[in-house]
Amino acid sequence: MSTYKIAWLPGDGIGKDVMDATRLVLDRMHLDAEYLHGDIGWEFWCKEGDAFPQRTIDLLRHVDAAMFGAITSKPVKAAEAELIPELRGKGLVYRSPIVRMRQMFDLYICLRPCKAYAGNPLNLKEGIDLVVFRENTEDLYAGVEFSPVPKELADVLGKLSRPFHVFKDMPTDQYAVSCKVNSKKGSERIVRAAFEFAKKHNRRKVTIVHKANVVRATDGLFLEEARKVARDYPGIQCDEANVDAICMWLLKNPFSYDVLVAPNLYGDIISDLAAQMVGGLGFGCSGNIGQQLAVFEPSHGSAPKYAGQNKVNPIATILAAKMMLDWLGEKEKGAHLERATSAAIKEGRVRTYDMGGSNSTTEMAEAICAHL
Ligand code: IPM
Ligand code: MG
Repeated sequence: MSTYKIAWLPGDGIGKDVMDATRLVLDRMHLDAEYLHGDIGWEFWCKEGDAFPQRTIDLLRHVDAAMFGAITSKPVKAAEAELIPELRGKGLVYRSPIVRMRQMFDLYICLRPCKAYAGNPLNLKEGIDLVVFRENTEDLYAGVEFSPVPKELADVLGKLSRPFHVFKDMPTDQYAVSCKVNSKKGSERIVRAAFEFAKKHNRRKVTIVHKANVVRATDGLFLEEARKVARDYPGIQCDEANVDAICMWLLKNPFSYDVLVAPNLYGDIISDLAAQMVGGLGFGCSGNIGQQLAVFEPSHGSAPKYAGQNKVNPIATILAAKMMLDWLGEKEKGAHLERATSAAIKEGRVRTYDMGGSNSTTEMAEAICAHL
């Protein structure tokens, strides 16, 4: 019997390409794992009305970790149009499977390291080394949304003492409501995870990202909880930044930052910004981590136009596999894989199109294998 059971969820688009490349690398390392395929993605929405079928959910309950490629999502109307005729009009709602997975398995930490590997021609500056902790289950991703707005909700909002001038006297089909929901528990545990990481990895500073000057209730709560947690870590510097301002400062002074922690949506945004500073889509890796399960993925989407062409850069997924090895406790293998990836980047013999070259997905994986 293998030591690890790993759910293998390629998804669609380039998800399959980058996952195949990642398997080459893991197999070269002789990871003692059984890889269990799980169906997920656009084709299952079209065929079954569910992009994240129950059998895949069941699979995730019985594995040590999962690797996930990418999936195509489309806006509501387009999604509805592509559903098989028998399922259309049944009130099925397309919700991103990865967002559902994060909530269903309480994968509350979204960990996104953004490191500029030496010699990557896409680095904004050499030496950038940021780590984003993104809250992964609540905030504007809570899924509490109304369009059109039900009359009961409109009535309640209308009766509250504070005048909500934005929708006063507006018909309920003329506006929509998406609720931002942030809990004390959710805020506390993500900020604590960021500080614990900083402590363990000798990081000097944690920056709390928010917009509490405007979004007073939810971001105010997040900031308050974050400040409480920070008091437990006197040895680690803690600062606070508005989400808009940090987008400028990060670009201007990337070396002034270290670990960043943010509510879900701001974390989504700043992690793309930080990934772009170290090479863009081909380099952003992500871990969705809970108490029982962790799911690792590249941060990029499914790029359907490149699907099956063996063209895109697999490094983001390979670095996600490195994160998985760390999470499984295979620290040596994780470090070895990172060194090999970093060596292949530095050597510069193989470059995918995003890096200005013309090598394939497989060739990049093989270049990394050559250093393993
Ligand atoms: C990410 C992605 C997802 C998100 C999408 C695909 C739902 O942008 O992982 O950052 O918004 O979280
Ligand atoms: Mg994103």
